[in-house]
Amino acid sequence: MKIGSLKLENPIISAPMAGISDLPYRLIMKRHGAALVFTEMISANGLFFNGKATRVLLNSREEEHPLGVQLFGEDPERLAEAVKQVEDCGELIDLNLGCPVRKVIRSGAGSALLRDPDKVARIISAVRHATSRPLTIKFRSGWDHDLINFLEIAHIAVEEGVDAVTLHPRTRSQMFGGQADWQQIKKLKESLSIPVIGSGDLFSAECIKTMFEQTGCDAVMIGRGGYGNPWIINQALDLLAGRPVIQPSATERLAVARDHFELCLGTFGPRKTLGQMRKHLCWYVRGMENAAEFRAQINQTRTTTEMSDLLEDFFANAA
Ligand SMILES: Cc1cc2nc3c(=O)[nH]c(=O)nc-3n(C[C@H](O)[C@H](O)[C@H](O)COP(=O)(O)O)c2cc1C
Repeated sequence: MKIGSLKLENPIISAPMAGISDLPYRLIMKRHGAALVFTEMISANGLFFNGKATRVLLNSREEEHPLGVQLFGEDPERLAEAVKQVEDCGELIDLNLGCPVRKVIRSGAGSALLRDPDKVARIISAVRHATSRPLTIKFRSGWDHDLINFLEIAHIAVEEGVDAVTLHPRTRSQMFGGQADWQQIKKLKESLSIPVIGSGDLFSAECIKTMFEQTGCDAVMIGRGGYGNPWIINQALDLLAGRPVIQPSATERLAVARDHFELCLGTFGPRKTLGQMRKHLCWYVRGMENAAEFRAQINQTRTTTEMSDLLEDFFANAA
């Protein structure tokens, strides 16, 4: 599959997720077969003011490429400026039109833009003129039950020159509640000639295969299904190719959890690693015996050595 000039090796993409899709997470997803990985959403205003926290989000390694850089903002000129600053960091630029978080909405960005299609047109036009990189948008199906306008937004995006679109078919007011409406992905695919990427409730290889079958989408984007479970990508690729799907052994889980931990430590140092890896390690042991006890204990750890020892002990006892 191709997004503009960017050729993807397979149709499985790792989603942009604020607080999750940092460099270590992306490397893990890449090593398990993701054809494209995305940064967390990056603020155009943060880039304009040269915020340190914003700049850190652009840290990257050759190994993870191709990399999609996702921007959010509400001002066409500022977004155009931002894209010039980040276009050399990745191979693709994505615009966030889906974030439902109140702080982002209040600033007029993310899914708030779905209420202003004219502004969406101006934003995409400005960004399209600022870069020749493949350009995509990621959006929700609408603002709320009374404003479901994903087809209108998608057609504007095509007219203004985007190369592909990603739909998470929930409205802003649904946040993450209920079920993603995959029928909307199907409708979108039927009405567009550019690639459509499906997102929403992809928690297993079987779900991924079903989304392809039910919607005809060109690629899928793995979000929460990748938490502590990068194998979902290999498994989906195997399933799609008609090969047997293999579950990771405890030894493999430990090896990947350890890798993730080391990558985090090397990237961010001990302090941030303690915060970040608590949730990831809990996800890696999910479903295993004594996982609840592990979760309780990991919240008590005060150093990365304690954390690493706890992980090793847990798996030594699990084997
Ligand atoms: C913690 C979290 C952070 C997210 N951050 C972003 C983001 O920065 N940009 C974005 O476009 N979507 C973001 N999303 C939405 C996901 O990319 C994805 O579209 C959504 O989770 C639906 O897929 P899923 O049900 O398979 O998780 C985020 C989702 C979660 C759970």
